[in-house]
Amino acid sequence: MGNKNARSLSYLQDETERGNFDLILHVGDFAYNMHDDNGRRGDQFMRQIQPIAALVPYMTCPGNHEAFHNFSNYKARFSMPGTTEGMFYSFDLGPVHFVSISTEYYYFYKKYGTDPLYNQFHWLEKELAKADKNRAEHPWIVLMGHRPMYCSNKDDVEDCSDELTRVGVPRIGLGLETMLKQYAVDLVIWAHEHSYERSWPLFNSTVYNGTKEEPYRNPRAPVHIITGSAGCQEDHDPFFNNASDWSAFRSVDYGYTRFVAHNHSHIYMEQVSVDLKGKVIDSFWLIKDKLSFNMP
Ligand SMILES: [Fe+2]
Repeated sequence: MGNKNARSLSYLQDETERGNFDLILHVGDFAYNMHDDNGRRGDQFMRQIQPIAALVPYMTCPGNHEAFHNFSNYKARFSMPGTTEGMFYSFDLGPVHFVSISTEYYYFYKKYGTDPLYNQFHWLEKELAKADKNRAEHPWIVLMGHRPMYCSNKDDVEDCSDELTRVGVPRIGLGLETMLKQYAVDLVIWAHEHSYERSWPLFNSTVYNGTKEEPYRNPRAPVHIITGSAGCQEDHDPFFNNASDWSAFRSVDYGYTRFVAHNHSHIYMEQVSVDLKGKVIDSFWLIKDKLSFNMP
Protein backbone atom coordinates (compact mmCIF):
# COMPACT_ATOMS: atom_id res chain seq x y z
CA MET A 1 0.00 0.00 0.00
CA GLY A 2 1.37 3.33 -1.06
CA ASN A 3 0.43 6.76 0.15
CA LYS A 4 -0.95 7.59 -3.29
CA ASN A 5 -3.94 5.59 -4.52
CA ALA A 6 -4.19 3.75 -1.18
CA ARG A 7 -7.57 2.33 -2.15
CA SER A 8 -7.93 0.05 0.87
CA LEU A 9 -6.87 2.59 3.46
CA SER A 10 -10.30 3.96 4.43
CA TYR A 11 -11.70 0.42 4.68
CA LEU A 12 -8.84 -0.64 6.92
CA GLN A 13 -9.22 2.47 9.09
CA ASP A 14 -12.96 1.86 9.37
CA GLU A 15 -12.63 -1.82 10.24
CA THR A 16 -9.90 -1.12 12.77
CA GLU A 17 -11.99 1.51 14.53
CA ARG A 18 -14.92 -0.90 14.66
CA GLY A 19 -12.68 -3.33 16.53
CA ASN A 20 -12.68 -5.93 13.76
CA PHE A 21 -8.93 -6.53 13.87
CA ASP A 22 -6.47 -7.80 16.46
CA LEU A 23 -3.55 -6.79 14.27
CA ILE A 24 -2.51 -5.86 10.76
CA LEU A 25 0.04 -7.65 8.61
CA HIS A 26 1.53 -5.28 6.04
CA VAL A 27 3.60 -7.54 3.82
CA GLY A 28 6.20 -5.06 2.56
CA ASP A 29 6.25 -2.04 0.21
CA PHE A 30 5.17 1.06 2.08
CA ALA A 31 4.44 4.58 0.86
CA TYR A 32 6.32 4.14 -2.40
CA ASN A 33 8.80 5.18 -1.23
CA MET A 34 9.40 6.07 2.38
CA HIS A 35 12.75 7.63 1.53
CA ASP A 36 11.34 9.92 -1.19
CA ASP A 37 11.45 13.67 -0.66
CA ASN A 38 14.07 13.18 2.01
CA GLY A 39 11.78 10.95 4.05
CA ARG A 40 8.74 13.23 3.96
CA ARG A 41 6.87 10.61 1.93
CA GLY A 42 7.47 8.18 4.76
CA ASP A 43 6.28 10.73 7.32
CA GLN A 44 3.10 11.23 5.36
CA PHE A 45 2.53 7.48 5.11
CA MET A 46 2.99 7.01 8.85
CA ARG A 47 0.34 9.70 9.45
CA GLN A 48 -1.98 7.88 7.06
CA ILE A 49 -1.73 4.62 8.96
CA GLN A 50 -1.86 6.25 12.38
CA PRO A 51 -5.63 5.68 12.82
CA ILE A 52 -4.82 1.97 12.41
CA ALA A 53 -1.40 1.64 14.00
CA ALA A 54 -2.46 3.62 17.09
CA LEU A 55 -5.10 0.98 17.84
CA VAL A 56 -3.65 -2.40 16.87
CA PRO A 57 -0.16 -3.80 16.28
CA TYR A 58 0.96 -3.00 12.73
CA MET A 59 3.26 -5.90 11.87
CA THR A 60 5.57 -5.60 8.89
CA CYS A 61 8.21 -7.18 6.72
CA PRO A 62 10.51 -5.37 4.28
CA GLY A 63 9.75 -5.17 0.55
CA ASN A 64 11.82 -4.11 -2.42
CA HIS A 65 10.67 -0.50 -2.06
CA GLU A 66 12.40 -0.36 1.31
CA ALA A 67 15.84 -1.40 0.06
CA PHE A 68 17.21 2.14 -0.39
CA HIS A 69 20.18 2.84 1.93
CA ASN A 70 20.12 -0.66 3.34
CA PHE A 71 16.47 -0.51 4.44
CA SER A 72 17.20 2.41 6.76
CA ASN A 73 13.75 4.02 6.51
CA TYR A 74 12.09 0.69 7.20
CA LYS A 75 14.35 -0.09 10.14
CA ALA A 76 13.93 3.36 11.67
CA ARG A 77 10.17 3.60 11.35
CA PHE A 78 8.91 0.21 12.51
CA SER A 79 9.67 -1.52 15.81
CA MET A 80 9.24 -5.25 15.45
CA PRO A 81 10.12 -8.00 17.95
CA GLY A 82 13.64 -9.38 18.11
CA THR A 83 17.03 -7.87 17.41
CA THR A 84 17.12 -7.67 13.59
CA GLU A 85 15.50 -4.23 13.22
CA GLY A 86 12.40 -5.89 11.84
CA MET A 87 14.11 -7.75 9.01
CA PHE A 88 13.06 -11.18 10.35
CA TYR A 89 11.31 -12.13 13.58
CA SER A 90 8.44 -14.14 15.03
CA PHE A 91 5.61 -13.73 17.51
CA ASP A 92 2.62 -15.65 18.85
CA LEU A 93 -1.00 -14.61 18.81
CA GLY A 94 -3.80 -16.95 19.87
CA PRO A 95 -3.30 -20.32 18.18
CA VAL A 96 -0.87 -18.92 15.59
CA HIS A 97 2.90 -18.66 15.52
CA PHE A 98 3.68 -15.91 13.00
CA VAL A 99 7.06 -15.73 11.29
CA SER A 100 8.15 -12.73 9.21
CA ILE A 101 11.14 -12.86 6.84
CA SER A 102 12.99 -10.65 4.40
CA THR A 103 12.68 -12.04 0.90
CA GLU A 104 14.75 -9.05 -0.19
CA TYR A 105 17.95 -10.63 1.03
CA TYR A 106 17.54 -12.95 -1.97
CA TYR A 107 17.28 -10.10 -4.44
CA PHE A 108 19.78 -7.55 -3.06
CA TYR A 109 22.57 -9.92 -2.02
CA LYS A 110 24.86 -8.55 -4.71
CA LYS A 111 24.59 -5.14 -3.09
CA TYR A 112 24.47 -6.06 0.60
CA GLY A 113 26.39 -9.35 0.65
CA THR A 114 25.37 -12.89 1.52
CA ASP A 115 25.77 -12.71 5.32
CA PRO A 116 22.16 -11.60 5.87
CA LEU A 117 21.02 -14.51 3.68
CA TYR A 118 22.94 -17.05 5.75
CA ASN A 119 21.92 -15.46 9.05
CA GLN A 120 18.25 -15.50 8.19
CA PHE A 121 18.38 -19.01 6.76
CA HIS A 122 19.95 -20.49 9.91
CA TRP A 123 17.70 -18.48 12.19
CA LEU A 124 14.63 -19.66 10.26
CA GLU A 125 15.69 -23.29 10.44
CA LYS A 126 15.96 -23.15 14.23
CA GLU A 127 12.86 -21.01 14.52
CA LEU A 128 10.66 -23.38 12.51
CA ALA A 129 12.03 -26.48 14.24
CA LYS A 130 11.13 -24.91 17.58
CA ALA A 131 7.68 -23.82 16.40
CA ASP A 132 7.02 -27.28 14.97
CA LYS A 133 7.73 -28.82 18.39
CA ASN A 134 5.47 -26.28 20.08
CA ARG A 135 2.35 -27.21 18.11
CA ALA A 136 0.35 -28.14 21.18
CA GLU A 137 0.45 -24.50 22.27
CA HIS A 138 0.43 -22.78 18.85
CA PRO A 139 -0.78 -25.30 16.29
CA TRP A 140 -0.64 -22.99 13.28
CA ILE A 141 2.57 -21.73 11.70
CA VAL A 142 2.02 -18.79 9.36
CA LEU A 143 4.94 -17.22 7.51
CA MET A 144 4.94 -13.89 5.70
CA GLY A 145 7.43 -12.39 3.28
CA HIS A 146 7.26 -9.87 0.47
CA ARG A 147 8.10 -11.61 -2.82
CA PRO A 148 6.08 -14.73 -3.58
CA MET A 149 7.48 -18.20 -4.21
CA TYR A 150 4.83 -18.65 -6.87
CA CYS A 151 2.89 -16.14 -8.94
CA SER A 152 1.41 -15.76 -12.37
CA ASN A 153 1.54 -12.04 -13.12
CA LYS A 154 2.82 -10.90 -16.47
CA ASP A 155 4.17 -7.54 -15.34
CA ASP A 156 6.96 -9.14 -13.53
CA VAL A 157 8.38 -11.91 -15.66
CA GLU A 158 11.62 -11.96 -13.74
CA ASP A 159 9.95 -12.50 -10.38
CA CYS A 160 7.36 -15.03 -11.48
CA SER A 161 9.88 -17.23 -13.26
CA ASP A 162 12.88 -16.57 -11.07
CA GLU A 163 11.63 -17.07 -7.54
CA LEU A 164 14.86 -16.83 -5.59
CA THR A 165 13.22 -17.17 -2.18
CA ARG A 166 11.94 -20.56 -3.27
CA VAL A 167 14.97 -22.00 -5.03
CA GLY A 168 17.81 -19.90 -3.61
CA VAL A 169 20.31 -17.65 -5.35
CA PRO A 170 22.70 -18.87 -8.08
CA ARG A 171 25.74 -20.83 -6.80
CA ILE A 172 24.72 -20.25 -3.18
CA GLY A 173 21.29 -21.82 -2.81
CA LEU A 174 19.53 -21.37 0.56
CA GLY A 175 16.07 -21.61 -1.00
CA LEU A 176 13.32 -21.83 1.58
CA GLU A 177 10.59 -24.01 0.09
CA THR A 178 11.97 -27.32 1.35
CA MET A 179 12.07 -25.91 4.85
CA LEU A 180 8.42 -24.89 4.68
CA LYS A 181 7.45 -28.47 3.88
CA GLN A 182 9.87 -30.04 6.34
CA TYR A 183 8.48 -28.08 9.27
CA ALA A 184 4.90 -28.13 8.00
CA VAL A 185 4.30 -24.39 7.69
CA ASP A 186 0.55 -24.23 7.21
CA LEU A 187 0.16 -20.96 5.39
CA VAL A 188 2.44 -18.48 3.66
CA ILE A 189 1.40 -14.92 2.90
CA TRP A 190 3.14 -12.95 0.17
CA ALA A 191 2.59 -9.61 -1.56
CA HIS A 192 4.64 -7.69 -4.19
CA GLU A 193 2.26 -8.53 -7.04
CA HIS A 194 -0.56 -5.99 -7.15
CA SER A 195 -3.26 -8.61 -7.22
CA TYR A 196 -4.70 -11.47 -5.16
CA GLU A 197 -3.99 -15.13 -5.80
CA ARG A 198 -4.79 -18.23 -3.73
CA SER A 199 -2.94 -21.48 -4.31
CA TRP A 200 -3.91 -25.04 -3.68
CA PRO A 201 -1.73 -26.72 -1.06
CA LEU A 202 1.57 -26.59 -2.88
CA PHE A 203 5.13 -27.87 -2.86
CA ASN A 204 7.69 -28.04 -5.66
CA SER A 205 5.08 -26.88 -8.20
CA THR A 206 2.93 -29.88 -7.29
CA VAL A 207 -0.53 -29.72 -5.75
CA TYR A 208 -0.97 -31.55 -2.43
CA ASN A 209 -4.68 -31.22 -1.75
CA GLY A 210 -6.27 -33.00 1.21
CA THR A 211 -8.83 -34.69 -0.98
CA LYS A 212 -10.48 -33.74 -4.24
CA GLU A 213 -13.70 -32.89 -2.42
CA GLU A 214 -12.02 -31.04 0.45
CA PRO A 215 -8.70 -29.68 -0.83
CA TYR A 216 -8.04 -27.56 2.24
CA ARG A 217 -8.95 -30.19 4.84
CA ASN A 218 -5.72 -31.85 5.97
CA PRO A 219 -3.64 -30.45 3.13
CA ARG A 220 -0.20 -32.05 2.72
CA ALA A 221 1.76 -28.90 1.93
CA PRO A 222 1.66 -25.15 2.64
CA VAL A 223 -1.06 -22.96 1.14
CA HIS A 224 0.21 -19.77 -0.52
CA ILE A 225 -1.71 -16.49 -0.55
CA ILE A 226 -0.44 -13.53 -2.58
CA THR A 227 -2.20 -10.42 -1.41
CA GLY A 228 -0.66 -7.23 -2.74
CA SER A 229 -3.56 -5.22 -4.09
CA ALA A 230 -4.19 -2.74 -1.28
CA GLY A 231 -3.45 0.07 -3.73
CA CYS A 232 -0.57 2.27 -4.85
CA GLN A 233 0.33 4.57 -7.72
CA GLU A 234 1.55 1.63 -9.81
CA ASP A 235 -2.02 0.31 -10.15
CA HIS A 236 -2.76 -3.39 -10.78
CA ASP A 237 -0.53 -6.18 -12.02
CA PRO A 238 -2.34 -8.22 -14.69
CA PHE A 239 -2.17 -12.02 -14.86
CA PHE A 240 -1.04 -14.34 -17.59
CA ASN A 241 -4.10 -15.59 -19.43
CA ASN A 242 -3.73 -19.20 -18.39
CA ALA A 243 -3.56 -19.86 -14.67
CA SER A 244 -1.09 -22.49 -13.47
CA ASP A 245 -2.35 -25.82 -12.10
CA TRP A 246 -1.49 -24.67 -8.58
CA SER A 247 -3.63 -21.53 -8.83
CA ALA A 248 -7.07 -21.83 -7.26
CA PHE A 249 -8.39 -18.26 -7.49
CA ARG A 250 -7.09 -14.90 -8.65
CA SER A 251 -8.31 -11.33 -8.94
CA VAL A 252 -6.83 -7.95 -9.81
CA ASP A 253 -9.42 -5.99 -7.80
CA TYR A 254 -8.01 -3.59 -5.25
CA GLY A 255 -8.54 -4.95 -1.77
CA TYR A 256 -7.20 -6.69 1.27
CA THR A 257 -7.43 -10.04 3.04
CA ARG A 258 -9.15 -10.92 6.32
CA PHE A 259 -7.68 -13.74 8.37
CA VAL A 260 -9.38 -15.43 11.32
CA ALA A 261 -7.70 -18.18 13.34
CA HIS A 262 -10.70 -19.70 15.11
CA ASN A 263 -8.95 -22.45 17.06
CA HIS A 264 -6.42 -25.26 16.74
CA SER A 265 -8.16 -26.78 13.74
CA HIS A 266 -9.83 -24.01 11.74
CA ILE A 267 -8.54 -20.92 9.93
CA TYR A 268 -10.80 -18.82 7.76
CA MET A 269 -9.63 -16.36 5.10
CA GLU A 270 -11.49 -14.06 2.77
CA GLN A 271 -10.61 -11.47 0.17
CA VAL A 272 -12.37 -8.10 0.22
CA SER A 273 -12.72 -6.16 -3.04
CA VAL A 274 -12.79 -2.41 -2.53
CA ASP A 275 -13.60 -2.04 -6.22
CA LEU A 276 -16.86 -3.76 -5.28
CA LYS A 277 -17.26 -1.60 -2.16
CA GLY A 278 -16.27 -4.21 0.38
CA LYS A 279 -17.74 -7.32 -1.24
CA VAL A 280 -16.08 -10.63 -0.35
CA ILE A 281 -14.89 -12.16 -3.62
CA ASP A 282 -13.06 -15.22 -2.31
CA SER A 283 -13.05 -17.26 0.88
CA PHE A 284 -11.82 -20.59 2.17
CA TRP A 285 -11.44 -22.63 5.36
CA LEU A 286 -8.12 -24.24 6.16
CA ILE A 287 -8.87 -27.24 8.38
CA LYS A 288 -6.61 -29.79 10.01
CA ASP A 289 -7.47 -32.79 12.17
CA LYS A 290 -3.91 -33.29 13.40
CA LEU A 291 -1.41 -30.71 14.58
CA SER A 292 0.95 -30.96 11.61
CA PHE A 293 0.58 -32.28 8.07
CA ASN A 294 3.80 -34.24 8.55
CA MET A 295 2.33 -36.23 11.44
CA PRO A 296 1.25 -39.77 10.57
FE1 LIG B 1 7.30 -5.23 -4.12
